[in-house]
Amino acid sequence: MEVFRIQGGRALNGEVRVNGAKNAALPLLAATLLTRETCVLRNVPDLSDVRFMIEILRHHGARVETPAPGVVSVTAESVHPHTPYELVKKMRASICLLGPLVGRLKMADIAQPGGCVIGTRPIDLHLKGLSRLGCTMTQHAGYITVDATNARGGRVFLGGPSGSTVTGTSNLVMAAVLTPGVTVIDCAACEPEVVDVCVMLSRMGAKIEGLGGPTLRITGVESLRGVTHEVVSDRIEAGTYAIAAAMSGGEIVVRGAKADHLGAFLDKFEEAGADFDILDADTLRVRGSAGRLKPVDITTLPHPSFPTDLQAQFTAMLTLAGGASTITERIYPNRFMHVPELNRMGANIAVEGPCAVIRGATALSGAPVMASDLRASAALILAGLVARGETWVQRIYHLDRGYERFDERLAALGASVERLRQSAMPADLRGE
Ligand code: EPZ
Repeated sequence: MEVFRIQGGRALNGEVRVNGAKNAALPLLAATLLTRETCVLRNVPDLSDVRFMIEILRHHGARVETPAPGVVSVTAESVHPHTPYELVKKMRASICLLGPLVGRLKMADIAQPGGCVIGTRPIDLHLKGLSRLGCTMTQHAGYITVDATNARGGRVFLGGPSGSTVTGTSNLVMAAVLTPGVTVIDCAACEPEVVDVCVMLSRMGAKIEGLGGPTLRITGVESLRGVTHEVVSDRIEAGTYAIAAAMSGGEIVVRGAKADHLGAFLDKFEEAGADFDILDADTLRVRGSAGRLKPVDITTLPHPSFPTDLQAQFTAMLTLAGGASTITERIYPNRFMHVPELNRMGANIAVEGPCAVIRGATALSGAPVMASDLRASAALILAGLVARGETWVQRIYHLDRGYERFDERLAALGASVERLRQSAMPADLRGE
């Protein structure tokens, strides 16, 4: 197990380029199963989740090569439909194989993903969509078997209690592109990562109308061709670096930060008093703003509203704002595992159901803390960058799922962040 040791109080200066988006790369890799021709993905982030998705594609029979950094070539000449539990349990996002298997093979036999610390993560909307295409589903021993022999285009409303479903929308599109007839998805997710999947499918020959909007119309085609596609840049990583700069002083330029994908985030970032400029469509410049941050109220909702994946990081920043901020989580009401750890560093955050009240400004002090999930890890590291003294962040494997070389890139900007073995921690500080 690895830990980060962080010495707080260093300003960040310089330039960082965000990588391709994890939440686009995973469904894009799955979508390569829809054709027997070769697909080449570029700007693929080097993340444990991505490496694992490559392992799953190979399990399904695809030939996968990584000829250069960030480049993944997939040729799925023949594919089998079984996705075993031992693979799915390691990464619940492997559920995004469901759509391509149904589209390509007219069947799937996939282990049902479990929940995780941020929520129960149901897939009822995914299955509702497939049933509207005429698929028959049976559930047995934790597996879902889908028979799409008689699938035809259909209409489905994909809205659930928290709005639409991101991977559910991608799954249904990936099933529908090779399903005869016309499929209409109402209340489709509009996240840029879903749009990126639709763009690649269209370039493979799929017929999809309404990209980026809440209603998608897909006309099934016989087959899809191979493609070369660049993964869209990661708006969540971009927002994370922007928050790091606002919290820790100095001035950084974030390349690949698409303002068009960060509307709600930048709106709240500005309201909170962060000092930033949009230099061009893909570039943000952010200056340290710790002394001028103001409290704001945030509610997480589906895109284009404020993204739940930036909630934990923004919470860390709001501990520095003078006054009371509120965060209401409408996507994952339990997504506050970072709060007790931030409070151990001196934050003053109270959680009541889906709401958190952050009372600042508090001077954070370094402490040994425990990462619990991907975005909570990032939040704790951001807090460590500004905390007085030394912070040890444990269970860094959570972070490596979604941030490539986060320690090295923060250190290159001037932070004091070291990746060490757990054994390097003073014995009395180890949390386990
Ligand atoms: C995607 O998860 C992202 N993961 C998540 O990012 C992100 O937090 C989430 O979308 C919301 O934006 C990937 O893309 C791999 P959902 P996904 O289906 O698709 C409910 C990160 O940190 N729901 O849009 O699994 C669900 O309970 C990760 O990078 C149903 O009720 O999320 C949740 O409340 C974490 N029934 C809401 O919808 C369903 O069938 C949104 O879920 C599906 C979902």
